Amino acid sequence: MKYNFDEKIDRQHTNCMSTDGFRAYIFHDTEGTMTFPYKDEEFIRMWIADMEFATPDFILNAIRTRLDRRILGYTKVFDPAYYEAFKNWTDKKYGWHCEKEHLVSSPGIVPALYWLVGFLTKCDEKVLIMTPSYKHFMGAPMWHNRELLCTDLVNDGTGYYTIDFDDFERKAADPKTTLCLFCNPHNPSGRIWTEEELKRVGDICKKHGVYIVSDEIHCDLIRTGLQHIPMAKVVTDYDKLITCMAPSKTFNIAGMMFSNVIIPNDKTRELWYSKRYMNDNPLSIAAAQAAYAMEEDWLDQLKLYLDGNFKFVYDYIAARLPEAKFRIPEATYLGWVDVSAYLPRVDALPKFFAENAGVLLEGGNMFVQNSNGFIRLNVACQRDVLADGMKRIADALLHNRK
Ligand SMILES: Cc1ncc(COP(=O)(O)O)c(C=O)c1O
Repeated sequence: MKYNFDEKIDRQHTNCMSTDGFRAYIFHDTEGTMTFPYKDEEFIRMWIADMEFATPDFILNAIRTRLDRRILGYTKVFDPAYYEAFKNWTDKKYGWHCEKEHLVSSPGIVPALYWLVGFLTKCDEKVLIMTPSYKHFMGAPMWHNRELLCTDLVNDGTGYYTIDFDDFERKAADPKTTLCLFCNPHNPSGRIWTEEELKRVGDICKKHGVYIVSDEIHCDLIRTGLQHIPMAKVVTDYDKLITCMAPSKTFNIAGMMFSNVIIPNDKTRELWYSKRYMNDNPLSIAAAQAAYAMEEDWLDQLKLYLDGNFKFVYDYIAARLPEAKFRIPEATYLGWVDVSAYLPRVDALPKFFAENAGVLLEGGNMFVQNSNGFIRLNVACQRDVLADGMKRIADALLHNRK
């Protein structure tokens, strides 16, 4: 491999969420008073969705070049080169692109979700999501006091999830339902929705006049050989469909807080501009543009490394935890594992693994509902760290069973 994904990068004392923010995020311990039998630096961190790999040099160099201009004043994307880079990327990867004027920027997709729920729905309206779900899909409606409707995805028993279209349509047809927050590909199941599934979701939302926000943040991190389909490529004539994409997960630049929101409806876009502060971070623009203009095979190699990590996890679980249910996800670097056969009575799984394994991971309790007994494992780490993490997890589960 040309790039060294085995290299360990020290993240301690960089104000990094993964190393310094886990108490507050996972355990709601904002005072930092919780204690564990492990020192902070002894934990294997398999939780928050960023990677332990270095951001690639072509991005770091673009940031350095921008720094060398020596003034970091107010900035916003004016240069059409950013749109050109993004357009070329989405054309190349998905055979689709958005119109230039539909593209707006946001300091992250989570802030966009929170803003959009506020713009698009009224106080007495409902927001529909699919569960298990990334927790901010619940957080955004709750923040605005909107009622949340959940439709449970159906697990076929092997970890392959599908949409219960009857239930979805019943809930979308509720006259108070005006927005669906849709995750494509889906976190945490890792599903890449098929063209048929996307079309059906789109048709149902269209029929009932429901806005769709399609969060496609994980669209580039898919298993080698698979293909992401933007919902907007399939649902073509619906201007209540808003798409969110970002270079943040793909290139490990989430801290740069720069993402793309594609809003085809002119009035909604005006609302967006009128309600949010509009500048962008100069270093983030440089990073995002360099990411989309990438000419190297860094991403292909990263994907191969992640494929290898998932194979390792799959084989390890099969060998040591045969009653756990795990399927290699089609997308994301997040494994979704049903360990309920080993821990029938424990519901605070992150605490169990932090205390008994020295592994930081996210548990089903963090994914809204329809997720009891599951753990979510971030495998975007060095292979030997992953091996240690899996050993610790298996040891803890098997020891607990004795
Ligand atoms: C589905 C989904 N949306 C959004 C985010 C985070 O978005 P951002 O960092 O751009 O705010 C994540 C991070 O894990 C995610 O999984």
